[in-house]
Amino acid sequence: MSRTTGSRGVGTTAGPSGQAPAGSGNGQARALRVEGVWKSFGATPVLRGIDLELAEHDVVCLIGASGSGKSTLLRCINLLEPLDSGRVFLEGEEITAPTADVNRVRRRIGIVFQSFNLFPHMSVLANVTLAPCKVLGMSQREAGERAVGLLDRFGLADKRDDFPDRLSGGQQQRVAIVRALAMEPDLLLLDEITSALDPELVAEVLNVIRELARGGMTMLIATHEMGFARDIATRVCFLDAGVILEQGPAAEIFSRPREARTQQFLQRIVEAGRL
Ligand SMILES: Nc1ncnc2c1ncn2[C@@H]1O[C@H](COP(=O)(O)OP(=O)(O)OP(=O)(O)O)[C@@H](O)[C@H]1O
Ligand SMILES: [Mg+2]
Repeated sequence: MSRTTGSRGVGTTAGPSGQAPAGSGNGQARALRVEGVWKSFGATPVLRGIDLELAEHDVVCLIGASGSGKSTLLRCINLLEPLDSGRVFLEGEEITAPTADVNRVRRRIGIVFQSFNLFPHMSVLANVTLAPCKVLGMSQREAGERAVGLLDRFGLADKRDDFPDRLSGGQQQRVAIVRALAMEPDLLLLDEITSALDPELVAEVLNVIRELARGGMTMLIATHEMGFARDIATRVCFLDAGVILEQGPAAEIFSRPREARTQQFLQRIVEAGRL
């Protein structure tokens, strides 16, 4: 499948309801810009001034200790959590503006969670075609044809009529990814999508992500799989207590981390045999 970047919605530089932030001058279209995002739960600050930018086709991995705020950041970007302050821009359009259409934003940003959240009473095919039909108004036939194409691409063609409980965890997670892709999102958020899987099933899901990266999908991925992050990420961000403490190319972050906290975190990962 070739990506149809920007096939729906606003253009790549400025949207109707928000002003595009000043360009970085590198000529690459910006897919996502997170600006000064703060978020607390009760009295506990969880995100403390996050700034983050993804160019189109970037694959950015968020790493950091449990509780550092990775999931919260993804949920804020997808507007599943309201921000306390700050702004988020998708392709130049401010999606956190009071006038932004939340449902339209969620159509453009796919999110896949650790727990696959497939509809248990529906076949694989029905899981994948539901949103394109209901939300995008696609005909059953068109949605079905596209779903079959996607299932085929990810080695699931023979599972189309099965119900989720007949599939392995890895297969269910791949269906969850296909379901998100069926909406042709401009950006895909992946939250620890391999954490619930047995080690032998992790590889098949990571291969799907590699294939998506090759196809040019823009992705922001929270992961504990450091080897995978090193392998796939155009950039790695180390999140510590709600702050992006350090970011850079994977090779740099993993072999020459500047910050003591990053060094400590990676040391623990190495000791646990996970890098
Ligand atoms: N809905 C919520 N209500 C209250 N506190 C929350 C809520 N969601 C997250 N938190 C708290 O915010 C902090 C950050 O959580 P978050 O899930 O973003 O961390 P994480 O980096 O994704 O961790 P993990 O690696 O374990 O997934 C944690 O202290 C968590 O308890
Ligand atoms: Mg998390």
